[in-house]
Amino acid sequence: MKSKSSVASMVLLSAALLGMSSAAFSADNKPGFLSRMFDGEKAPGVAPVKNPQYLEECGSCHFPYQPGLLPARSWKKVMSGLEDHFGENAELPPEDVKNITDYMLKNAADHADYKRSKRIMSSLRADDAPLRISETPYFIEKHNELSRAMVQDNPKVRSVSRCGACHTMAETGSFSESEIQIPGFGAWED
Ligand code: HEC
Ligand code: HEC
Repeated sequence: MKSKSSVASMVLLSAALLGMSSAAFSADNKPGFLSRMFDGEKAPGVAPVKNPQYLEECGSCHFPYQPGLLPARSWKKVMSGLEDHFGENAELPPEDVKNITDYMLKNAADHADYKRSKRIMSSLRADDAPLRISETPYFIEKHNELSRAMVQDNPKVRSVSRCGACHTMAETGSFSESEIQIPGFGAWED
């Protein structure tokens, strides 16, 4: 039987090898620890929302967009303009704004070790700070095959901003193709 320490060093060694081989084939410029270990497997989507206050305050009118879908500079803009939020008043007490902003900035796409966050970031120029996920080049490219009939004229969708209408696992941070069900049209086949 192997000693505990030799098993531990085997585990460490294979983890290091795994990390090296996937980093060598990774398209990302700066692969982080998580994405090197689980490249495209354990962390393929975006981080799920774990903050109850965020879910309550930012999930009451629409899908609670995960912070990993936009860079910190975008969230700063969203959070400093809540009194005129896409034509609605979404103002919150200053204390709540502070707590939610802290949470969002910590989990924004520029700090996230998730595949979709990285793709969104690399589609933006360094100074781009879009207010909408649906205006990022990555999003536009991924959704360019959708028709009016599937979105605007679809009474169960209406807006491409309603992520959860088509992405059945969106709340968990997963947007995989195999989980897409467009109301009235069914599963998505490319
Ligand atoms: C009073 C209702 C309301 C509340 C509360 C609210 N929003 Fe919104 N939000 C809207 C509306 C309306 C839109 C535009 C939706 C559309 O175009 O279909 C929107 C759109 C957005 C978008 C852009 C979605 C896209 O198209 O990519 C983001 C990001 C967003 N909200 C973030 C937040 C955050 C963060 C909070 C919490 C601080 C919040 N919202 C709270 C009403 C609200
Ligand atoms: C009308 C249905 C619909 C809505 C609403 C929608 N999507 Fe999508 N989404 C799709 C389809 C269809 C694809 C393309 C799948 C493919 O061919 O790769 C897609 C692709 C994606 C992908 C890439 C997935 C992959 O594996 O390549 C992401 C990420 C994504 N959507 C996020 C979002 C987010 C975030 C929202 C809301 C702001 C949203 N989607 C709203 C239908 C929708």
